[in-house]
Amino acid sequence: MTPDTSPAHTTHDAEADDRNDHIKIYVNGDIVPKDQAVVSVYDSGFMLGDGMWEGMRLYDGEWAFFDAHMDRLFNSLKSVSLEIGLGPDDIRKILDDTAAANGMTGDAHCRLMITRGRKAKPFQHPSLSRWGPTIVAIVEHSKPAQSLSAKGIRLATVPQVRGLPMSQDAKYNSHSKLNCVIACLQAEQAGADEGLMLDPHGFVNTTNACNFFIVRRGEVWTSTGDYCMNGVTRQNVIDLCRANDIPVFEKNFSLYEAYGADEAFLTGTFGAQTPVASIDGKEIGTGERPVTTRIRALYKELVARTVAEQKTARG
Ligand SMILES: Cc1ncc(COP(=O)(O)O)c(C=O)c1O
Repeated sequence: MTPDTSPAHTTHDAEADDRNDHIKIYVNGDIVPKDQAVVSVYDSGFMLGDGMWEGMRLYDGEWAFFDAHMDRLFNSLKSVSLEIGLGPDDIRKILDDTAAANGMTGDAHCRLMITRGRKAKPFQHPSLSRWGPTIVAIVEHSKPAQSLSAKGIRLATVPQVRGLPMSQDAKYNSHSKLNCVIACLQAEQAGADEGLMLDPHGFVNTTNACNFFIVRRGEVWTSTGDYCMNGVTRQNVIDLCRANDIPVFEKNFSLYEAYGADEAFLTGTFGAQTPVASIDGKEIGTGERPVTTRIRALYKELVARTVAEQKTARG
């Protein structure tokens, strides 16, 4: 096999869109042009990574799987005692207003960020955040790059592992993603696109930005979920497999089984399901991806159906 030495791509590669140079962004109650969308250098998110975020996609005027995203967000905010005085409906209005200000009804991706807010002094104590929260919603025109779904992503196993839940629980979608950023840097240094991260026991867990699945002999496997992000797309894929008689298992497995898989794919809100071309330079399967292709089609249908239901429920 000739090694793939093409320039790095990422699971978040989008088609180029110049309109994103001039979008409007929500910042603390105002929707302002991108070049005026700023927060204080005293912000707890900037200083400490003390904040939570969600990535969501807009389809036909609806934020797909909105309730699941809000469930994760509000669970995280409660866990770190970040009281924002708003509920999911208020968040939806912020997102809807920002999308409307940009004339968007689909092919858009939102990064909603909520931090403990501006601090009185440049130190760590949470009580110094006196003017919080800071809420920002960036909604960009966004279409995942088509090349990824054909070509697939190159993974490298990295030394940086996932942490135990009693250090910084991987279920926090926190502004501080340094663990993941270090993993991504290590993957890049190894000539790959994204890092495949092991758990503290050496089992295959997740990548630095997406959840990880393999397909072996007609079965779909993913990690137990103990050390990875509780991905909305991950859960949707598991549920879809169960509903469509595709055997699916959340279990421990090692690189041995990952290298020998017939197919592997990543899941995330942005890219849905992105095929994996290789792990540590070893090509995965033959390049035929019937199970991934079927799951992608089922997921597309699920998005269309749930978005239509959400629209009807909202009148
Ligand atoms: C480390 C990590 N894994 C997986 C995911 C995918 O989660 P979701 O499917 O909810 O987008 C994310 C996205 O926030 C992430 O940061």
